[in-house]
Amino acid sequence: MLKFDWFRRLLSGERERSDHSEPPGFSRPISTASPFGTRIWAVGGGKGGVGKSLIASNAGIALSKQGKKVLLVDADLGAANLHTFLGVDGGRTALSSFLKDEASDFKSLIQKTPFPNLDLVSGAKDALDVPEVKCTQIKKLRDALKKVEYDYAILDVGPGTSSNFLDMFLMSNEGIIVSTPEPTTIENNYRFLKCLFLRKIKTIADSQPDGVLKDLLQRIFSDKWSQRVKTVADITDQLMRLDFEQGRMLKEDLKSTSLSMIVNQTKRGEDANIGKAIRSACSEYFGVDIDYIGSVGYEETVGESIRTRRPLSVYFTSSVAAKSLEGCIARVLDKSRAAQQVTFQI
Ligand SMILES: Nc1ncnc2c1ncn2[C@@H]1O[C@H](COP(=O)(O)OP(=O)(O)O)[C@@H](O)[C@H]1O
Ligand SMILES: [Mg+2]
Repeated sequence: MLKFDWFRRLLSGERERSDHSEPPGFSRPISTASPFGTRIWAVGGGKGGVGKSLIASNAGIALSKQGKKVLLVDADLGAANLHTFLGVDGGRTALSSFLKDEASDFKSLIQKTPFPNLDLVSGAKDALDVPEVKCTQIKKLRDALKKVEYDYAILDVGPGTSSNFLDMFLMSNEGIIVSTPEPTTIENNYRFLKCLFLRKIKTIADSQPDGVLKDLLQRIFSDKWSQRVKTVADITDQLMRLDFEQGRMLKEDLKSTSLSMIVNQTKRGEDANIGKAIRSACSEYFGVDIDYIGSVGYEETVGESIRTRRPLSVYFTSSVAAKSLEGCIARVLDKSRAAQQVTFQI
């Protein structure tokens, strides 16, 4: 019974007593936030139940262990549970209140976690109907994230291709797509990527005051042309034929979305090859590179860590899954740092 105490508290709305002693592995001093502003990472994809929250929570912990100041944001409004991965309750306020305009101050949603340098904005008290959130509210979230003082904000974005989730994912400097080796996940992630790029193209076209790109896209999708347009790469190719400069700029813009993929829950050695196969398919169909960052094996310890609400990267550091995850996060961090340096050189 005691084991499910947290669940009873969740149902009753009672606040959790903070009985966590200092978690292991946090010896570094509390960092002050980066003077260069908050870098946003989004963890997302086309399917639920694949390990997005596992990866988002452990990425937050891994960065905070290195002395980075990190804000985890549970943006899976339909099934918010990131707090459970950290072993804390959902708090009094949640992102849903901000998106429904019930809370106007984003900073008031931030709660401390037992882990130094790591704060949390939990998702939704009750599942929020995602399509009901207006896109102006998503813009409000983007503006709020620009103002918080953290080194990194990590968004745990809900699954699927709703425009709100795509827009949240597109806010990021680094987008991490989580896959599993299963064909269903791969199929959903392919659809997610296609919708992501189409959404990005639409956003760019809508933001142009002269409407040139919008007109060109309408021509491309007109009856005569549409048969030749099967992939996102076809759109940019046709665009370059009609207006080389517009096509070139759009291609550059699409390439500027930095994407990484982690394959989670692999069970056989060859499962990891799926990452490379997805990478080359993306290059062919979307004309962009998606970095295959690495894989995390299916391991019972992961389930145990979630059941006991003790994060993998803190309490199960010797597990193979924790080590693989750590390696994946380190590679995303290297990529993120390199991109940041290029930005500041420009
Ligand atoms: N590497 C893994 N090994 C074993 N089980 C895993 C692994 N990754 C995820 N899981 C299982 O999958 C479930 C869903 O993970 P979660 O991170 O909540 O997915 P998502 O956020 O994508 O919906 C977890 O509760 C856990 O039981
Ligand atoms: Mg989740």
